Amino acid sequence: MSPRAAALAAADAPRDRDGAMPATGLPRVLATASSGPGLVAHLAAHGALPAFSATRRAEHPLVDLVEQSGLTGRGGAGFPTARKLAAVARARGDTVVVANATEAEPVSAKDKVLCRLAPHLVLDGVQLAAEAVGATRAVLVAHPTVSGVLGAAIAERARHGLGGVRPEIVDAATHFVAGEESAVVNWVDHGRSVPTGSRHRPHERGVGGRPTLVNNVETLAHLALVARHGAAWFRALGTETEPGTLLVTARGAVANPGVYEAAIGSRVDDVVGAAGGHVATPLAYLVGGYFGTWIGTEGREVAFSRQGLAPLGASVGAGLLLAVPTSCCGVVETARLARYLAGQSAGQCGPCVFGLRAIADEVGLLARRELASDGTARLRRWLGEVDGRGACAHPDGVARLVRSALAVFDDEVQRHVNRRCSAPRPEQSALGLPVT
Ligand SMILES: Cc1cc2nc3c(=O)[nH]c(=O)nc-3n(C[C@H](O)[C@H](O)[C@H](O)COP(=O)(O)O)c2cc1C
Ligand code: SF4
Repeated sequence: MSPRAAALAAADAPRDRDGAMPATGLPRVLATASSGPGLVAHLAAHGALPAFSATRRAEHPLVDLVEQSGLTGRGGAGFPTARKLAAVARARGDTVVVANATEAEPVSAKDKVLCRLAPHLVLDGVQLAAEAVGATRAVLVAHPTVSGVLGAAIAERARHGLGGVRPEIVDAATHFVAGEESAVVNWVDHGRSVPTGSRHRPHERGVGGRPTLVNNVETLAHLALVARHGAAWFRALGTETEPGTLLVTARGAVANPGVYEAAIGSRVDDVVGAAGGHVATPLAYLVGGYFGTWIGTEGREVAFSRQGLAPLGASVGAGLLLAVPTSCCGVVETARLARYLAGQSAGQCGPCVFGLRAIADEVGLLARRELASDGTARLRRWLGEVDGRGACAHPDGVARLVRSALAVFDDEVQRHVNRRCSAPRPEQSALGLPVT
């Protein structure tokens, strides 16, 4: 999948103090997309890391800077990054930083592309986060396809005498829920990549029982730029409530599928435009990931941001935008997703194991036009019954996805109940999933 730095914001912005990078333009985290992943190209694009000094761990100036920048997590939940940093920095005893590059979501590529193109920016973020929370250990949990490039970058930094905690690399497990933060901690500690459902979040008790900062690698890359250029620079793109840029994986019926860096608040249509436009009339978009939400084509006009997508019941999630063409059937595509996601349950919580299987069976019947008219009411009831009933948010995500399908494909659902389907080629999939 090709990386692309989409010009979704002013490109003729002034240069910063080093003249190394446009002060407010794009690309930011993908600035080294065309110059390569090496340290020399990285330093030429971004300049050296600034030095911070703090007398007490809980008063590290980077925490304030990140707070002012308004940076939020890019791993899916959008949690304010400064709040996590402050919680771990305030904790007693040794702390740990975990950089999450698991990206087990099959249609998302943004973290892998970022690690391939800008490994040193990710490592800067790890180093700075470790300094800010006083961590004595840093672990990069990386999808196996990118652990090599990250390992080479760590070795290159050591050769150049760059300081800081030297991160360990752990190859991530690649099944769907392996990237959930408690599963990541469990994997590092015990080689079990399943969520623990512990009432202690990692910032209280994480790797080795120590307070642990778990951040997505894209979050850490933005943090490294905030540290260099400041909060005002970061806020020069994006919106008041959601500053900065984000990486979007654009897929499906677009001319140039790839990973694009966009100012938060760019319209869905702008992202589609950056990806070369539609190659077929769109039926709907899947946003956020397999674990995401369907929105109808009226969503083309809204901002690709939490605030912009909220009225449609959607969120940017892992930054996926997938256009499904009218040749496909939304109900059949949802059945494929529900079957896949039910199969990805970590098998520990009854409502997740049995509930998701039952939901997938029911959506499968609907897709095959074999569901009786009372079946959709039963399906809606079951969706309510799995919400909040797992040790992690997996069942909630599946319920949200299926609910959004019932709303967006309302007419098609009725046709299926009446044993009809309007899609010319329902056997086709824009999602890359097998027929259920
Ligand atoms: C089922 C599931 C899968 C997840 N997969 C990932 C993942 O692959 N990578 C990631 O960074 N976060 C993933 N998350 C979110 C993490 O739990 C966590 O919120 C995130 O790593 C925190 O980083 P951030 O604050 O920088 O976003 C997942 C969450 C759930 C519920
Ligand atoms: S809710 Fe599902 S995926 Fe999450 S821990 Fe329980 S069984 Fe595993």
